[in-house]
Amino acid sequence: MATKKLFIKTYGCQMNVYDSARMADVLAPLGYGPTDDPAEADMVLLNTCHIREKAAEKVFSELGRLRRIRAAREARGEGRTVLGVAGCVAQAEGAEILARAPFVDLVLGPQAYHRLPEMVARLARAGEAQLDTDFPADPKFDHLPAPGVRGPAAFLSVQEGCDKFCTFCVVPYTRGAEYSRPVTDILAEARALVAAGTVEITLLGQTVNAYHGEGPDGSPWGLGRLIRALAEIDGLDRIRYTTSHPRDVDDDLIAAHAEVPALMPFLHLPVQAGSDRILKAMNRGHDAAAYRRIVERLRAARPDLALSSDFIVGFPGETEADFADTLALVDEIGFIQAYSFKYSVRPGTPAAGLPGQVAEDVKAERLARLQALLNAQQVAFNRACVGLEMDVLLDRTGKKPGQLVGRSPFMQPVHVSAPAEMLGTVRRVVIDAGQPNSLAGRLVACPGGAPQGPQRVPA
Ligand code: SAH
Ligand code: SF4
Ligand code: F3S
Repeated sequence: MATKKLFIKTYGCQMNVYDSARMADVLAPLGYGPTDDPAEADMVLLNTCHIREKAAEKVFSELGRLRRIRAAREARGEGRTVLGVAGCVAQAEGAEILARAPFVDLVLGPQAYHRLPEMVARLARAGEAQLDTDFPADPKFDHLPAPGVRGPAAFLSVQEGCDKFCTFCVVPYTRGAEYSRPVTDILAEARALVAAGTVEITLLGQTVNAYHGEGPDGSPWGLGRLIRALAEIDGLDRIRYTTSHPRDVDDDLIAAHAEVPALMPFLHLPVQAGSDRILKAMNRGHDAAAYRRIVERLRAARPDLALSSDFIVGFPGETEADFADTLALVDEIGFIQAYSFKYSVRPGTPAAGLPGQVAEDVKAERLARLQALLNAQQVAFNRACVGLEMDVLLDRTGKKPGQLVGRSPFMQPVHVSAPAEMLGTVRRVVIDAGQPNSLAGRLVACPGGAPQGPQRVPA
């Protein structure tokens, strides 16, 4: 029984979403249950992101706001809220956080979540702020409890950290070295999720397809093999993985896309830029031609595969000609969805010291041009879905009465009129409308039999 209330605010990537849920799992035995209202919380945790300057700066303004909320609660005689900062800003700026916001009680990096109960106990005993940003030799996964109930679609971290050191990126510093969880642990966590009602699992890792966890036979397994083993779990209808790196797309993973029906035909494969000169300066370890070849092979394996990507504009030294190469690559490959960012200088990363930093207004102008192209591709894809039948995982209630919202195989939100009992199930839907950011459709009376894959979307 929860006797205390926990509020967690999550910034950043899916791994932080997963980690927030894991922190809640760790704190549950201490009597903490979830609340949506920080004003009534006994503990507030900010799970932070350091990837771009804006993301990191948000934390301090939020801390100021929470400090006031905490003071008001204390004045009402409702007790003192424990205020904690977790995640990548905590890892990167641990001591600075305590210096700049000395009213914070807990600062803990992503590898220390299993030690939360200890930190809470020490805080209660000593009454002074606790900091833990060590990278323990012993992986945290060995000490985390079984996951709680997650709902129809859940994340599962299989790999963490990064050894790639792209010159713009803080992740190798905030998440540490690459680590792959053993296959047996992952299968056990997946089975527990499915037993609790999950039907779709997204495997997570900073470079998830660099996965090389120990198999039950002691040999290292790649991601393709792991996906095949997960696909055997009864009741697990859908498998996804993110974020993958072009360098780690191997033959077996490509084959898995052809052979495993549960593996969804949608892949987030960040390319960052289309210019070989910039890709080299970014230390991405591949050129534009290699990216094109990988996409070609993936599409040969799974013809309906749709792609998403990440882009950075205005990396140091990027000329108009370099940027034109990015536009050309986007034009040629065709993405159904994408994230694009202005390059943000991150202290301590190699690119921060490079000559040729690009002016803000140039970055903004290039970003606008890139986003116009990416948006047009997204809208065109959504329109092309009209008239098709797809399997949709109805995973939440809609705003309108009698409406459920789900995810298509391609991660598009799909609005459907459907009874509440269908929540958490995969249904056949015919698409009636394609909006810029979502689809609308109708349930198809299912003639029975196994669900089919989506029909091919015309290019
Ligand atoms: N591991 C993933 C990316 C993780 S970070 C990969 O290798 O692709 C998510 C995205 O944030 C990156 O793909 C990149 O597009 C963006 N990003 C990372 N550092 C950035 C920076 N300094 N400025 C702007 N965008 C950045
Ligand atoms: Fe960052 Fe590059 Fe590692 Fe991705 S592969 S997390 S962009 S260093
Ligand atoms: Fe941000 Fe850390 Fe994820 S920096 S993007 S929360 S790995």
